[in-house]
Order: sequence, then C-alpha cells, then structure tokens
Amino acid sequence: MSDVRINPSILAADFVNMQAELARIADADYVHVDVMDNHFVPNLTFGPQMVERIQATSPVPLDVHLMIDDPDRWSPRYAELGAASVTFHLEAANEPVALARRLRAIGARAGVAVKPMTPVEPLFDILDDVDQILVMTVEPGFGGQSFMPETMPKLRRLADECRRRGAAVWLQVDGGISESTIGQAADAGADTFVAGSAVFGADDPQRAIQALRELAAMHRH
Ligand code: DX5
Ligand code: ZN
Repeated sequence: MSDVRINPSILAADFVNMQAELARIADADYVHVDVMDNHFVPNLTFGPQMVERIQATSPVPLDVHLMIDDPDRWSPRYAELGAASVTFHLEAANEPVALARRLRAIGARAGVAVKPMTPVEPLFDILDDVDQILVMTVEPGFGGQSFMPETMPKLRRLADECRRRGAAVWLQVDGGISESTIGQAADAGADTFVAGSAVFGADDPQRAIQALRELAAMHRH
C-alpha cells in the first residue's frame, strides 16, 4: 500500500485557520498547495510568502501545484523555500526540461502538469527529467468540480509508456477525486491522488484520507 499517496488540497481548507487545518490532515502523505495567479487560471490564491509559512507549519511535506504564467521565472522560489515537490504547467512553460532540471538541482521533486485537453504524448520525451506528472481531471482554477472521466484514456497511455520505459515517475490526478472516482483513476494508472473537498469537506478528514487510500490501493495493479 505504500505506493499510493493521498495529498489533500488546502484549497478546500479555511484559509484563516491554516495551522489548525493542516493539523487535521497530519496522516496525509503530502499537502497539496494550489498557487493561482489569476492569469493562467481565473482565480487567485496566494504566493511564496504564504507558502513559506505553510512550509514552516505543516506536519507533512508540501506538494506545490503552480497554476501560474511564467513558471520558468517563478517556480524555483518554491523549491528554494523547501517544498518537497514543485509542479508547473506544461502549457505555461517556455523551457520545461531546463526548468525541471533546475528544480531538481535545488532539491525538489520536479513535476509537470497538463490540463484536461492537453495531450500527454509531448511528455514522453521528457520522462527522464521529471519525477511526477499531474494529469488534471478538471479544468484547473476551482475546487469542487466534477471529475472528467474522458481524461482517463490519456492517463492510461501515459502509464503504459512509463511502464514500457521503466520510468519511475509518479502519476498524479487532481480534481473531483472522491470515494466514488478514485478507483477509476487508480485503475487507469494513477498512484498519487489530490483531494480537496473530499477530505476537508468530511467530518473526519483523517478517516477520509484512510478510506481514499484503501480504495486506491485496492484498484492498483
Ligand atoms: C483545482 C486545483 C485542485 C483542487 C481540487 O484547480 O488544482 O487541487 O483543490 O479540488 P477538489 O478535490 O475539490 O476537486
Ligand atoms: Zn491542484
């Protein structure tokens, strides 16, 4: 079961009680931190100053998801402040390989994300330079949206290619992940699951994490 990771997204948490909210998910593998700039996506969250405080406060390592323009310029800052992983969007990056290498050199896991309509085939050329790939299962920007099952075929193609190449890349899904959708994503090859509302909307977030973990592990093969 150790090859399955559950990363609650604090987008669904109470932003003014962040320390208490982080304590509610102490059993998670990572905390997923959504940075939005109101340009790459039509929503705004927070920047490095807030993420630095989360890093100092969180009982679990940070999985930073950057939904921002010009990640080539802004991403390294998040690696420097100590985030365990930093994921930028392929659609926004000018030089994804150079950027991924830079993030790794600073000491973070390098991640690249694709929106639901972006093909995964271009990623086949950069599998050796990244540690994780995020296949968005909703249009990025907002929590609480419905899972898009039409993204599963490309996740399967990506998982097949990683297996064929023996690439040790974590495959992450983000958006609409709940007890009713996590199985399909695990079946299609995901091993790392972001869940916002399904965790923070639950009466007992720790229990929700455990339930998601068990379901995902059951569908892994
Ligand atoms: C959406 C964010 C997600 C979001 C997921 O753009 O990237 O991480 O928090 O929220 P849920 O799990 O509620 O769909
Ligand atoms: Zn996210």
